[in-house]
Amino acid sequence: MELFEAINKRHSVSKVKADALPRDLIEKLLDAGNHAPNHYKVRPWRFVVLAGNARNKLGDVMAASQHERLPEIPAEGLDKTRALPLRAPVIIAVGVDKPVETKVRDLENLAAASAACENILLAAHALGLGAIWRTGDWSRDEKVKVFFGFEADQHIVGLIYIGYPEAEGESAPRPSYEDRTVWME
Ligand SMILES: Cc1cc2nc3c(=O)[nH]c(=O)nc-3n(C[C@H](O)[C@H](O)[C@H](O)COP(=O)(O)O)c2cc1C
Repeated sequence: MELFEAINKRHSVSKVKADALPRDLIEKLLDAGNHAPNHYKVRPWRFVVLAGNARNKLGDVMAASQHERLPEIPAEGLDKTRALPLRAPVIIAVGVDKPVETKVRDLENLAAASAACENILLAAHALGLGAIWRTGDWSRDEKVKVFFGFEADQHIVGLIYIGYPEAEGESAPRPSYEDRTVWME
């Protein structure tokens, strides 16, 4: 797929089929993420790939966390939460390393990991997959972070849900860049 076509036509796809994705396809996505620019060559992204039963385990962690915070929540509410990770056959959680050297900045690592997320989205689109970058409260939940093997104070920049698209969608018209741009000459 031509680069500008991928950039312009990519759009979030929240409804995907339950069919599993072949490992080589997932590896292409990870490789695309790993090609993102990053300052000081620290490659600050950490990818955790969830498929199959691991998604149920994440759902259990989310429901347990919610129950601990809101003990009054009814069982149906917890079941809904438990089912959230099953919305796609694959989830790639993208965590960010905390800087260990003073020259490396938190913001720059976040920027690089975000670029990795966009590379993954573009690669997914080019491969005919549907993907959506999610964050929300779950990406900030300490128990979820620990489940992924991250530190409680480490950031998750994205939970990218990926699968074969349920339907052919298209990108929504986007306002021009003009009101977001100043030219200085
Ligand atoms: C950092 C970030 C977090 C996002 N979190 C969510 C989310 O939690 N839930 C959701 O439905 N979409 C989420 N999105 C997707 C945006 O809603 C989506 O990109 C936006 O509506 C533009 O649509 P498009 O991706 O089709 O161009 C997130 C996007 C970014 C960049």
